[in-house]
Amino acid sequence: MDKNDTPTSKAILEHNRRFIPGGISSVNRSIDPAVAFVKGEGAYLWDAAGKRYIDYHAGFAPYFLGHNFRPVNEAAAAALTTGDSLFGAGPSVLEGMLAELIVTHVPAVEKLTLLNTGSEADALAVRIARAVTGKSHIIVMQGGYNGNSDELACNVFNTLAEIGPRVSPGEYPLKPLGAGTTILDTRFVHAINFNDLESVRYVCRRYPVAALVTEPLLQNIGVVKPGPGYLEGLRALADELGFLLVFDEVKTGFRHALGGYSALSGVMPDLVVYGKAVANGFPIAMVGGKSRYMDSIVDPDPSKRPFVAGTYNGHPVAVAAAIETVRHLATNGNEIYPRMEKMGAAMEAGILDIFKHAGIAACVARQGSAFSFYLMETPPRDLHDIIKGHDFARDVALRRGLVERGVFFVPIATKQCSLSAAHTMDDVAFTLEQFEASLKAL
Ligand SMILES: Cc1ncc(COP(=O)(O)O)c(C=O)c1O
Repeated sequence: MDKNDTPTSKAILEHNRRFIPGGISSVNRSIDPAVAFVKGEGAYLWDAAGKRYIDYHAGFAPYFLGHNFRPVNEAAAAALTTGDSLFGAGPSVLEGMLAELIVTHVPAVEKLTLLNTGSEADALAVRIARAVTGKSHIIVMQGGYNGNSDELACNVFNTLAEIGPRVSPGEYPLKPLGAGTTILDTRFVHAINFNDLESVRYVCRRYPVAALVTEPLLQNIGVVKPGPGYLEGLRALADELGFLLVFDEVKTGFRHALGGYSALSGVMPDLVVYGKAVANGFPIAMVGGKSRYMDSIVDPDPSKRPFVAGTYNGHPVAVAAAIETVRHLATNGNEIYPRMEKMGAAMEAGILDIFKHAGIAACVARQGSAFSFYLMETPPRDLHDIIKGHDFARDVALRRGLVERGVFFVPIATKQCSLSAAHTMDDVAFTLEQFEASLKAL
């Protein structure tokens, strides 16, 4: 198949299936209807048949400034024409520039190291935590996603049948995201409810815990916000019980504030992981945090050093994209973040209004540009509330109706929607019209 052919989405998937298991290189991209997109620009996507969609998926959230945002693309392209390359030896000017920028703007980061994906960065954060605490166990959130590594890929979206009744205090049965890992043999990982401090104590009383890894607000089961005092409580427990508090800000970072959600909440983690929006769609991630932990990477005693290496770490194209993204947010954030809040609030109010007029019990959970709706009375505290209260079938049907009408809410129940700085109030108005029509058609 040639890229200039104009095949339908179905033909592209069928072609790819002959060469790629399932036809798609990330299982999370599998959707029904199986739309194949061929172009993205600003707030819009076009599929293989030329149909345009307003995009609220944003490639799983990195495109905070919109698809193919020219200044970032140009910075990346420039890195290819200036003689910069992946030298693979010695320090690079660009990586130092990016690190300085991040340290300047993100209060939680005193030092950082660059990687390529959020998954790698989360796994490295756990490794650092184990190295500096000398302990092995880790706590994760039921309903949190911290990447695809062997130990962290577990307990995101489980059914009630899989995880049973609410556990508090206590831990949920471990549910790996797939086969081929040893997580069930090593039993170092403990999944507890978000917003549940007592379960942190419960696990720490029983096991030597190196780290608690959590998104500061869960954004892989829609949007689940921390309750009052929860993040502060985690900070206090980390200090009291001697584990490292690791914020996975792969989805929240740079989207909610230049300084990350830690800056918004005022709760400083020990280590923090960024990816996605930091380079507006270019593949880069980072682990940062307190110098005393980050410096373990160069501990004079090799037996205490967590191993960090990667051929593409600090790749100049992605680093140049990240520098431009962060600079853009530093210069324009005062205008962008309030505008995103306003657009998000309009979307929230509009959706709530539509449900209210339709007499359907529903709520919207939102942080700035990130939102999700749930077909239940009140926003969830954790995954358990969602699997007990949400109408998954109706959610997906509503999303499919939107896709049909040219509004791309990814057709997977509860998935977070992301506004970008390229969206306009007209896009929001059109989206709300289609939302109402899709709901009526159910
Ligand atoms: C919160 C969170 N952490 C980690 C990851 C993994 O990042 P990546 O897909 O870049 O490996 C994701 C990806 O969706 C994520 O949402």
